[in-house]
Amino acid sequence: EKGGYDHFMIKEINEQPHTIYDCLRGRLDPVAGTITMAGVQNNIEQLKNAQRIVMIACGTSWHAGLVAEYVFEELCRIPVEVEYASEFRYRNPVINKGDVIIAISQSGETADTIVAIDKAKEQGAFIFGVVNVVGSSIARLSHAGAYTHAGPEIGVASTKAFTAQLAVLTMVALKIALEKGTITHDRYMHLLNELHEIPDKVKLLLEDAENVKAIGLKYKDAGDFLYLGRGYNFPVALEGALKLKEISYIHAEGYPAAEMKHGPIALVDEKLPVVFVATKDAYYDKIVSNIQEIKARKGQVIAVITENDETIPTMSNDIMFVPEADEIVAPMLSVIPLQLLSYYIGVAKGLDVDKPRNLAKSVTVE
Ligand code: M6R
Repeated sequence: EKGGYDHFMIKEINEQPHTIYDCLRGRLDPVAGTITMAGVQNNIEQLKNAQRIVMIACGTSWHAGLVAEYVFEELCRIPVEVEYASEFRYRNPVINKGDVIIAISQSGETADTIVAIDKAKEQGAFIFGVVNVVGSSIARLSHAGAYTHAGPEIGVASTKAFTAQLAVLTMVALKIALEKGTITHDRYMHLLNELHEIPDKVKLLLEDAENVKAIGLKYKDAGDFLYLGRGYNFPVALEGALKLKEISYIHAEGYPAAEMKHGPIALVDEKLPVVFVATKDAYYDKIVSNIQEIKARKGQVIAVITENDETIPTMSNDIMFVPEADEIVAPMLSVIPLQLLSYYIGVAKGLDVDKPRNLAKSVTVE
C-alpha cells in the first residue's frame, strides 16, 4: 500500500509529478490556449465581477490561499483576503453581495471551514470549493468548485494536496483573468506553458532528495528553525515551518523575510538554522540582502534557490535546488525541498512521520 516506500508521507511527496499532472490533465491545453473547468465557466459572470474574494481555510490549505492571494491580485486585479476559517466564523465578518468565497480543503470535512462556509452562505456569498475528497461535505456545501484530483492523502502532513491546490487555484485565476481582460495574451500563454511544465520540473527536483536528506541529518538536533521568504515564497516559508513542527516537533517559525528586522532577528545566533526560500523572482535582490543580514549575525543559512543561481551559494551553508520557473508557479516547486527536509528530519529523529502526536488527518471538531 505504501508502494515500496517506508512511509505514506514520502510516497505522497514523490507522487507529486503525477498528482499535479492529473490535476492539469483534461483541463489545461497549452497549445490551444484553453483551460476547461466547468465550475468556473458556468459561473464566470459571478467570478469575474466579484468585488472581493475571500479565501477560507485552515493549516496548509490556508497557506495555499495565501499564495493564491498574490496570484489572484496580480492576474485578476480583484482584492483578496485570506482568512483562518475559525476566526472568520466567529468575528461577525462583513460579507457583501457579490463577494466570492473560495473554500480550500483537502479533506472537505474540516469543521472550522464548514461552519465558516455556512455563515458566509447565510449572508448571501457565492461559495467556490477547492477540495480534494470527492463528495465530501465542503464539496457538497459549495455552489461550484474544482477538485484537486490528488488522490487519497494518507499522511497527516499535507503534501501533494497542497501542490494540487496551487495548480487548481492558478488555473482558476488564469481563466478569470482572461475573461476579465486583466492579462495579456502573451502572458496568459506563457503561464499556461509554465504550468504545463511543472510536473517534469518536480520530477527533476526530486532527484536532489539525497542532498536534502544530508542537510536534514546535519540540522536534526537544532532546537529552533526560522523560515523566510518574500512575495510568492512567503507562504511557502510558512508552510515549510508548519511541516517541520508537525513532523519533527522542532519549533519553527515562518516570516516574511523583511519582517526579520522588526523583531525576530534578535533570535539569530550561530546555532540558528535559517531557511530562505529564495528562488529567482522579482524579490530576488531584496532577499539576497536579507541573507546577508543573517550571515552577518552568524546564522546558519540554508537556501532553496533556482538551479543556475551563482550568488546565493557563496553566502549559504547549505543549498537546495529547484528548476527555473515563473514566480507565479514557483511555489509548487520551492515547497517540495521543504517537505523533504521535514520528512528526513522526522525520520532521523525516529518519529512517526505519518501520524505525528496530537494530530488527526481531518479536524472534525471546532
Ligand atoms: O483537510 P483540510 O485541508 O481542510 O485540512 C486543513 C488542516 O487541518 C491541514 O492542512 C493541517 O494543517 C495539516 N496537518 C497540515 O499538514
